[in-house]
Amino acid sequence: MTAAVTVRVPAKVNVQLAVGPPRPDGFHDLANVFLAVSLYDEVTVTPADELRVTCSGPDAAQVPLDRTNLAARAALALAARHGREANVHIHIAKDIPVAGGMAGGSADGAGALLACDTLWGTGASREELLEICADLGSDVPFSLVGGAALGRGRGELLTPLETGGTFHWVFAVADGGLSTPAVYAECDRLRADTTVPAPEPSAPLLAALRTGDAEALAAAMTNDLQAAAVSLRPSLTATLTAGTEAGALAAMVSGSGPTTAFLVADASGAQKVADALRDSGTCRTVRVTSGPAPGATVLPAG
Ligand code: C5P
Repeated sequence: MTAAVTVRVPAKVNVQLAVGPPRPDGFHDLANVFLAVSLYDEVTVTPADELRVTCSGPDAAQVPLDRTNLAARAALALAARHGREANVHIHIAKDIPVAGGMAGGSADGAGALLACDTLWGTGASREELLEICADLGSDVPFSLVGGAALGRGRGELLTPLETGGTFHWVFAVADGGLSTPAVYAECDRLRADTTVPAPEPSAPLLAALRTGDAEALAAAMTNDLQAAAVSLRPSLTATLTAGTEAGALAAMVSGSGPTTAFLVADASGAQKVADALRDSGTCRTVRVTSGPAPGATVLPAG
């Protein structure tokens, strides 16, 4: 019998990304407020003779298909813990920008983990799945849970957050990716002569999420990696300006970039900003989304 399990996993935007000084292990402590948005990858697993990864979608050529892919690593980690072979074909239908600061790779890791757990009937607890996710990468636990959450530590220690409404977003996808370690290193370089405080979540920002107040959220949004991403990719300034001039409530680099995120008041504001960004010629693609979106979800068979 051939079974197939498909899991849908959202992209994320960081509405606050406060980055502390570098830790001895090379990571940075964060106050990382994640919001999942309605842009999804779908990860399908089917039994196979050996582990294999394939990918479809406009950016598929940029996705590694070897064992560095977080989806492959997730399958191997779950199989090793449960004493079985990771003999599965993982197919990623990719819609989340690759290396874009939207946790697309993390989404595939969380998706493959949940899909394999379901296919194999492993019955791993939520805690075990979250532990494997944290081993795979700092953003992977959030891809599993979705919604909105505060990430402490290197981003993996999650506290779910309440949200009081839907927030509307436009994303401008840049040409080419940015390496996350390179952006963190540039952030350290730019702040070398400053005393960097311990990262703390912003109370006004959490209140804005709780009440669903887009204007208050826009006023409170910050990303400590933005200066570094812009330093490595100065052309992002023109994209941020184009979205702001078109009426976005806030314009920010998404995570480590180079995708830029624009918070807008409503769906019609989103169309206006999206049109202006397309016309600006400063980005490759424009995506209109909203959040919070649910975390990794097994889709009904068929
Ligand atoms: O955890 P993940 O594998 O996604 O991290 C990728 C890289 O991003 C790390 O190797 C590190 O350079 C940087 N990073 C960091 N501090 C974090 C998260 C990521 O320095 N909290």
